[in-house]
Amino acid sequence: MDKIVIHGGHRLRGEVVIHGAKNAALLIQCAALLSDKPSAIRHLPKLSDIATMGSLLEHLGCEVEGDRTMNIDPTRVAEGSLEAPYDMVKTMRASVTVMGPLLARYGHCRVSLPGGCAIGARPIDQHLKGLEALGAKITLRHGYVDLKARRLKGGSFMFDTVTVGGTQNVMMAATLAKGTSRLENVAREPEVEELARVLVKMGAQITGAGSSVIEIEGVDELMGFDHAVVPDRIEAGTFAVAAAITRGDVLLLDAPVDHMHATIAKLEEAGAVCHVESDGLRVVGPERLEPVDISTRPYPGFATDMQAQMMVLAACAHGQSLITETIFENRFMHVPELNRMGADITVQGHAAVVRGGSRLTGAEVMATDLRASASLVLAGLVASGKTEIRRVYHLDRGYEAIEKRLRGLGANVQRYHRAKG
Ligand code: UD1
Repeated sequence: MDKIVIHGGHRLRGEVVIHGAKNAALLIQCAALLSDKPSAIRHLPKLSDIATMGSLLEHLGCEVEGDRTMNIDPTRVAEGSLEAPYDMVKTMRASVTVMGPLLARYGHCRVSLPGGCAIGARPIDQHLKGLEALGAKITLRHGYVDLKARRLKGGSFMFDTVTVGGTQNVMMAATLAKGTSRLENVAREPEVEELARVLVKMGAQITGAGSSVIEIEGVDELMGFDHAVVPDRIEAGTFAVAAAITRGDVLLLDAPVDHMHATIAKLEEAGAVCHVESDGLRVVGPERLEPVDISTRPYPGFATDMQAQMMVLAACAHGQSLITETIFENRFMHVPELNRMGADITVQGHAAVVRGGSRLTGAEVMATDLRASASLVLAGLVASGKTEIRRVYHLDRGYEAIEKRLRGLGANVQRYHRAKG
């Protein structure tokens, strides 16, 4: 297994291109199942999650070709088993979002229940209730969900909790239902809007994406699409924090500034200067960082996917910050590792008190999830001495060639390949 080794203490300077958004791309890959015509997705990040979704589509009978641009031909899906097996769903939860498209297009499917994950229980009850509201008959057996509906019918559904994946799954299903659907208390994340843009290109009739109520007028069939994925607001946010904590000066080319208001507001509160330029966002780190209080919220609030990275900034700031995680129950797994690097962070339930200002020191660390791994890389950039990060496969799920791109900004970061054994 690979490891990443960082020698900290370098100011980051220069430009980095922000790649396509993983969490938007995965859903766009699923949307290709709604048509029997080929689709093309451009500006994809080269990430293991995107490849895993490609493999799942192949397993379902699609012909899949390419990585940066992926061509998906679903012509032969009808001949397949329409099953998302446990082995695939357990490596990537987003696999459950093939459910809506398969059910709507083919009238049945079988999808493994995802089970727990490192950051919390992450149930899919809202996905299932939403699909039931459109007429799906659902049976849970042997760890799998069986869904059936001769043709879905338009219906109304109010989500109990704001769920991004749930909103996307039910929205996709409703595009091919007979009649009108009204979904309330939906997620307003940019990834929902981006998916709606693709569905509209396919011929779907959707209004309200980006607000908390979405209406969908079902159609009989959808076309293939050609779409370039929006740049990744979380990747951009992660590089922005890297610039801020290293007193750097970095231009994030193509950063989706309109989706980053909450992150930018907190960076500015901490003392970083954020300039919107014609080709991206420039972030200049201050000599002295101020503490910031953060509470994660559904969009447009502060993203849970930026919480771990911002905690590193808080650890570097002079004073005490309070970081509250309201979306997932177990998303402070990076805290013990950051403390091993000299941070002073105490977790009390859903909140972490970060007493910033102590100098971080390099250590051997490992993380249990993607954004936690990103936070350890950030900590390594400012720590004195050598930081070794294990379980790099978590990072590879969400950041393409992060070591090369950080090196391009002047960081001392190396990846070492180790033979499996
Ligand atoms: C969530 C984040 C998203 C982030 C992604 C990966 C929010 C609202 N969503 O999206 O920004 O990119 O994680 O880290 O911040 N829930 C249920 N029942 C369900 C579905 C969800 O109770 O059927 C709960 C979850 O346990 C969680 C909350 O709703 O507490 C949000 O989950 P959801 O938005 O579905 O998760 P993701 O789509 O993975």
